[in-house]
Amino acid sequence: MNPIQTKAKAAGVNLDRLPVHIGMIMDGNGRFAKAQGFARLWGHHKGYKTLRTALLDCSDLGIRYLTVYAFSSENWRRSDDEVAGLMQLIEKSTRDEVPTMMRNNVRLKVAGRLKELPASLQEAFQFAVETTAANTGITFTLAVNYGGRAEIVDAVRDLIKSGVPADEVDEACLSRKMYLPEVPDPDMILRTAGEMRWSNFLIYQAAYAELVVTDTTWPEFKQEDLFAGVIEYQSRLRKFGGVTG
Ligand code: FPP
Repeated sequence: MNPIQTKAKAAGVNLDRLPVHIGMIMDGNGRFAKAQGFARLWGHHKGYKTLRTALLDCSDLGIRYLTVYAFSSENWRRSDDEVAGLMQLIEKSTRDEVPTMMRNNVRLKVAGRLKELPASLQEAFQFAVETTAANTGITFTLAVNYGGRAEIVDAVRDLIKSGVPADEVDEACLSRKMYLPEVPDPDMILRTAGEMRWSNFLIYQAAYAELVVTDTTWPEFKQEDLFAGVIEYQSRLRKFGGVTG
């Protein structure tokens, strides 16, 4: 057992029933910045530091897949400055963190309408995804220019193009057309900053996921909040529409 697992166990986490895949909606960067008297982008920079720690904590804890909502298809509606700042932050951190991902055996994936992103960001993703592809530790997915409805539309377009007859369309073949069919569905979606919404995040894959919401904003999110989220997930009975016990 590593030090984080020892701490998690002491906090009440059952290490034998960890969620395999956690999705995170990193909300509240803007509110955190405003409360401290800074611009929204400052909050996103703090949010990046939190994400770095959360990724390594999840990895050490033994979580196999972590998917984070870094930029939604609706986020283009924000000011030009905020959009450009977020794009630069995502690109710079992707480039900067390749050595960290290699050291920690992290495999990076990216999900979303990537072709609509700046060319330099697409290049950074391609380099980081290819460099980390053979890593066997946690699979870390950045959802960027991602929308759950857009993903379903893209999957349906793909199905129609591949000529599948309508009466042969089923959940299994639709699932195979999602952006990352090799990634299992999330067991738990953790959202910070109090809102109880899905906000178009993994809406197809999260059909049976548990939603866990913390009051803390994303920049304030700590290891203890991760443990508390996993404990809450473990306390819920997952029935998949059937009966248990
Ligand atoms: C939501 O907070 C957060 C985002 C739209 C962006 C998330 C991005 C990061 C955490 C930056 C780091 C990401 C990477 C991959 C380097 P909000 O702005 O909606 O906050 P608010 O609801 O308080 O306004």
